[in-house]
Amino acid sequence: MNVPLLDLTRQYTTIANEIEPKVLELIRSQKLILGKPVEELEQTIAEYCDSKYAIGVSSGTDAQLMALMALNIGPGDEVIVPTFSFFATAGVVVRVGATPVFVDVDPVTYNMDAEAMKKRITNKTKAIMPVHLFGQAFDIDAIEAIANKFGIPIIEDAAQAIGTQYRDGTKVGSRGLMGTFSFYPTKNLGAFGDGGVITTNDEKLAIHLKQMRNHGMEPKYFHSFIGGNFRLDALQAEVLNVKFPNLESWHQKRRENAELYNSLFIDARVTSAEFSQTLSNENLVVLPKAVNKNSGVPNHHIYNQYTIRVQNRDAVRANLTQNGIGTEVYYPLNFHDQECFAYLGEKSESFPIANEAAQTCLALPIFPELTTNEIEYVATTLINAIKK
Ligand SMILES: Cc1ncc(COP(=O)(O)O)c(C=O)c1O
Repeated sequence: MNVPLLDLTRQYTTIANEIEPKVLELIRSQKLILGKPVEELEQTIAEYCDSKYAIGVSSGTDAQLMALMALNIGPGDEVIVPTFSFFATAGVVVRVGATPVFVDVDPVTYNMDAEAMKKRITNKTKAIMPVHLFGQAFDIDAIEAIANKFGIPIIEDAAQAIGTQYRDGTKVGSRGLMGTFSFYPTKNLGAFGDGGVITTNDEKLAIHLKQMRNHGMEPKYFHSFIGGNFRLDALQAEVLNVKFPNLESWHQKRRENAELYNSLFIDARVTSAEFSQTLSNENLVVLPKAVNKNSGVPNHHIYNQYTIRVQNRDAVRANLTQNGIGTEVYYPLNFHDQECFAYLGEKSESFPIANEAAQTCLALPIFPELTTNEIEYVATTLINAIKK
């Protein structure tokens, strides 16, 4: 049996009848940039994400870059980010001329550790940019309490977490000064190319970001500040408008798939603490745990990724590949160990949890259209692989 990590064609066949006439209509209209489809999407996303404003932009990376630009962050400034994330989270900080400051993660959720973050705040810290990694919210209560005390704005990197809820039931992206999202095709709400959105409750910021995405232009050919071409294509917005009504059911399917995996791995599972203490290559899997560290209360999760941890990860992964199963390692090298950030002089030993995660994490297929048979096959193959 072959089980891909992600098969987007399966989703496409379920919505093709709806999407194709809309796309054709848009192509025939030749109204290709911004316009009505983008405005409709912005309204939908703002409402869905419990935010007053949403600004459609060219990608999740550009959304983050724009957020930093809107805060006038530049040379001499520091921005705190988790060391375990997709590269964009740190890359954008350097692109505005500022210094990324890395923080270790929580061993259960893999999200930025609030206490470790507190220790890295200096008088140069101009923003904190935590990530809702894999689709689970970071601990906003703890991070917000610290950020508020120091008067530092939070930019939420919600690229992987559209629709994820905080413990209070509100959606991610609504409590930071800005939330940034990606519509990259692998995301739970994916476009047919690149796209992103920024959410905010601040009206002045929303107006500024709208102007920024079109070279800071207002009115036409008059520029009061420098922005960029960060516009969202009408075509991508139209695709997202058609897909959006399915989003909650796709989240739900991912959650059901995660529950099925969890039940199939029940005999092999260990806690992350037990896992760290065991050096042998035994029958051990750490499962993703949707839980708040401090309260123990279950966390909402949209499972953009279902990431487990196993000993001898590379051998286990090779075994799964041989058996036709697609997997991925998100992420094999933390920011503090990346060649391009060597100049920062961060010490690898300062990030033990992220280091262990990078060596042991493995993402399994979790997309909504997976069949029960496929999930059972992945689980059985994995259990056999870790016994070897
Ligand atoms: C955590 C995180 N941040 C930022 C991004 C950047 O988004 P995009 O690929 O749309 O530029 C991604 C997506 O790939 C991501 O996963």
